Amino acid sequence: MEKLRDCLPKGAKVLLAVGNHVKKSGLLERLMRILADFETVVFCGIRAEPPLPEVDELIGFGRRNAVSAIVAVGGGSVLDAAKAAAAIIPLDGTVGDYFYQRKAIPGKGLFFAALPTTAGTGTEATPNSVLSDPDTDIKKSIRHDSMFPDLAIVDPELTYSCPADLTAHSGLDALTQAIESYISRNANTVSKALAARAVQLIFAALPKVCADLNDKNARRDMAEGSMAAALAFAQSGLGAVHGLGHPIGSKLHVPHGLCCAILLPKILRRNQDYCSEALDELALNCSCAGGEFFVEKIEKLCRDLNIPADFRKFGMEREIFPFVLKNCRSGSMRSNPRSFEDGEIIEILESLL
Ligand SMILES: [Fe+2]
Repeated sequence: MEKLRDCLPKGAKVLLAVGNHVKKSGLLERLMRILADFETVVFCGIRAEPPLPEVDELIGFGRRNAVSAIVAVGGGSVLDAAKAAAAIIPLDGTVGDYFYQRKAIPGKGLFFAALPTTAGTGTEATPNSVLSDPDTDIKKSIRHDSMFPDLAIVDPELTYSCPADLTAHSGLDALTQAIESYISRNANTVSKALAARAVQLIFAALPKVCADLNDKNARRDMAEGSMAAALAFAQSGLGAVHGLGHPIGSKLHVPHGLCCAILLPKILRRNQDYCSEALDELALNCSCAGGEFFVEKIEKLCRDLNIPADFRKFGMEREIFPFVLKNCRSGSMRSNPRSFEDGEIIEILESLL
């Protein structure tokens, strides 16, 4: 993390965007010492699944302070909000203009550095910023090739104080991303190599880190696995867990990692017959006797980590089915190894009531 000081553009005016946890844990003071040579303004606290009005606050803060670089330190929400702000601050308009494609991102925005404090989202290695509109419950990405962070510092030490629930949920998001990338219709040799390694690392390390939050080797493997998964899915895309997870999560206000964790076993079962060879390969990689056993181990892992089997406690009702159907046909759904007709999506949603 100390390397941050040497990697920023000389003379930059820095907007340091941090999560509340970074402020409470004392990490903010350490960051301010690292950034002592730079004029720095601090923006603290972005809510989960960043709502557009909060991203506009961040953009307004950056514009008023005429910042030239953004350093984001936090979980996926902080990083995604800051990534969008870095792209939009030099432009006209609100984040909603770009979210709803009334305006297009023309190219590179401000210098952007991402330092994740969870091992899960992988947003430090992708050009996507996933945001949500509380007025419409629509959750989707703003994306442009110029939005890849200029600098990503993946330091496992930053994840040491990540609490148990968030460690489990973001870890299962990382595992989902790694598996979805490997079995994606758009996978290629490079993305598959990265995704296979990510699955191997996360599959072994996630139970360990959830059993002992102080297991530094497991924290390191989770950080590396999460980053490798992101490098993979930035090329291959994701799958139906993410396709369905976005509209369900935004409608029911379920945090992204938990939402993916609930969906992963169910969607794997639906995909299994369409990617059995790929699941056998992943199983071999994880010392499991075949794809079926690999899927069973993931089901058990989710149970062991107290992941609910459905969205009942989040108030899932049939009323939201039309919204989910309308908003699930994203790029993630298209890269899933098989297509789902509307009727089968309804079946899946029924099983989650
Ligand atoms: Fe995800």
